[in-house]
Amino acid sequence: MNDYVKNEIKNNRRAIKEDWRELKDIKTDRQLNMERPVMFKQAKVGSKIIKLEKEFPNIKQKTLTECIKNRKSLRSYKDQNLTLEEVSYLLWETSRVDSYKPGVTFRSIPTAGATNSMETYVFLNKIEGLNKGLYLYIQDKHQLSLIDDTLGIEERVNEALYGQLRGASIIFFFTATPYRTEYKYAHLSHKMIAIEAGHAGQNLSLAAEVINCGAVMLAAYIQEFSDKLLGIGDEEFVTYVGAIGKR
Ligand SMILES: Cc1cc2nc3c(=O)[nH]c(=O)nc-3n(C[C@H](O)[C@H](O)[C@H](O)COP(=O)(O)O)c2cc1C
Repeated sequence: MNDYVKNEIKNNRRAIKEDWRELKDIKTDRQLNMERPVMFKQAKVGSKIIKLEKEFPNIKQKTLTECIKNRKSLRSYKDQNLTLEEVSYLLWETSRVDSYKPGVTFRSIPTAGATNSMETYVFLNKIEGLNKGLYLYIQDKHQLSLIDDTLGIEERVNEALYGQLRGASIIFFFTATPYRTEYKYAHLSHKMIAIEAGHAGQNLSLAAEVINCGAVMLAAYIQEFSDKLLGIGDEEFVTYVGAIGKR
């Protein structure tokens, strides 16, 4: 291994090996009473909105043991549409906000100090009654807000995923807005931000099992293309991706 790689590894390991006592010696932006970051994104004014379902009468529940036992990364799928109810279910179990008050957000997944670093975007590829399109999930309203459904969107998504779309019915992009966590935990935030995405990925993988789908989680996407696709960049960026389709 060359010295450059050795140094990079050393630096990167530090991010998952922090000393919490250091927090006593600094003043965080929160302690300095700086302006609080926005807790979650809202739809762009005038964007097309899809209201999602909050009840799932056609989804037959399975036991947690069954879902964990059956979960295996799935990379080829039936050429079959998901229903809007199934899309709603995946987002509900993975990305919903249950309640919030200034500075704290409670979600279906745990989030460090309730700081909620995450946003969720979905690419609807094969969904009953809907055209292909890229959407932002509005966490507190359980709605989708259209970002892009222009010609070639499937190809652009596949390119961003480094060719790993593989005919999936739906793609989840989890992003991090690090400052939401840095505001409270400064330089200790980054391990927790990554873990939070992992929690979402696991809920997604298990929820996929319930609807007779399989998932594969992806880290080998192209950062630059994925961020560009979603119209984000330095202050918000993709951290984890999930591809889901019928078994
Ligand atoms: C953080 C993370 C990133 C991953 N990235 C990819 C990926 O980019 N492409 C892929 O095909 N699989 C990816 N996987 C799936 C793993 O390869 C898979 O989980 C592993 O081979 C074990 O197989 P299993 O999930 O069927 O148990 C990823 C898994 C994790 C946890």
